[in-house]
Amino acid sequence: MIKVDISNVWGDVSLPDLLAMEKEVFNAHMTLTEGTGAGNDFLGWLNLPVAEPTDEMIRIQAAADRIRETSDVFVVIGIGGSYLGPRAAIELMQGPNHNIGKGKGNPQIYFAGNGLSTRHWNELCRLLEGKDFSIAIISKSGTTTEPAIATRALRWMLERKYGTDGAKKRIYAITDPCKGALRQMATEEGWETFVIPPNVGGRYSVLTAVGLLPMAVAGMDIKAIMAGAYEAKEIYNIRSFENPVWLYTAVRNLLYRRGKAIELLESFEPGFKMMGGWWQQLFGESEGKDGKGIFPVTAEFTADLHSLGQMIQQGERNIFETMVRFAPPAEKYTIAGDYKDLDGLNYLEGKTLDYVDEQAYLGTLAAHVDGGVPVITMDVGELTDAKLGELFYFFELSCGVSAYILDVNPFNQPGVEFYKRNMFQLLGKPGYEKKV
Ligand code: PA5
Repeated sequence: MIKVDISNVWGDVSLPDLLAMEKEVFNAHMTLTEGTGAGNDFLGWLNLPVAEPTDEMIRIQAAADRIRETSDVFVVIGIGGSYLGPRAAIELMQGPNHNIGKGKGNPQIYFAGNGLSTRHWNELCRLLEGKDFSIAIISKSGTTTEPAIATRALRWMLERKYGTDGAKKRIYAITDPCKGALRQMATEEGWETFVIPPNVGGRYSVLTAVGLLPMAVAGMDIKAIMAGAYEAKEIYNIRSFENPVWLYTAVRNLLYRRGKAIELLESFEPGFKMMGGWWQQLFGESEGKDGKGIFPVTAEFTADLHSLGQMIQQGERNIFETMVRFAPPAEKYTIAGDYKDLDGLNYLEGKTLDYVDEQAYLGTLAAHVDGGVPVITMDVGELTDAKLGELFYFFELSCGVSAYILDVNPFNQPGVEFYKRNMFQLLGKPGYEKKV
């Protein structure tokens, strides 16, 4: 179980405050699990974790094995909830430089359709030159502009390279089972498809094919990931403050009520950066509405201590931190001695990098708490595929409960449409003409 430590929030939150939250958290948790709250037609993610692989998971693994055998590169097209989860998972487990040294048998994985940058597109085209590649198109609605543009281009590249029939074997569509342009295209073109269930919203979809296919192509154990999430479903169901989900959601809401409107989620692992991005979307889109919401920001320590550190330590006191810790890896690096000691580092001779990292963590924690920033710590333990599944479920459940405490619908994102409407008007998309 992930351990949530709230001993560094007591300056801003009192025990009576916390105990007074018990009923609110209980109600929010019940609203979520009983399906009686706003957006209750999007609760399918609660029951996605399974103990035994489903037929869909078996098909995902078979597709992944085929992609691994036949491709140097696998391109995953998608944006938002159709992109962040798989990228977060792969970078957390294999590091931000996971593509180095990979090729056929264990393909490189790149992401496309998550923006409109020509530079990014040109770079991808150069990367694909002379390479065998396959693509997954991920879009629940099947109509999102950024992935649709990337799909059109990559599909044509595949067809030019392998012919229409050859390309078909290298295109996988992950979308709604019945609706949308992507479903229609996939049916018409004969592409293999996987389903995003209608009752699972984009940012809660990482445990569907959206996350599982790219993770399996990356060589991760999707059965273990699901088993971890399945266990999480059981262990985070406790209805008391013994449940870390309760502690986390109660404390972040209490801090928000004390004027801490920004939550900074940090880790000392560079591979966690995209996980922070996934979390940012999950909480940002779920909570930021009706003029409410904790603004989610993510940071990488110690790197960002040399950029955001000053602001955290002495800027406006409107933030709280959630520090995520993992058990150190088995393989150690020990700092060597140097007979000249010109850099003055010999006092660390014989110490492991983990030891230095731990002191940096403890020093940062103490400094920020002294500076008036409440800190929640999360000890995740050993980083395994199962733990990854647990972590995804933990945050999704926390998000649903927290949003109901805040009294907003966790499963819609009406605000996202505004930029799209303006963009479509400017682009002259039929149906979006400016009214005069
Ligand atoms: O959480 C969400 O629902 C969104 O972030 C979507 O995932 C994102 O807008 C992409 O949508 P789609 O999968 O329909 O292309």
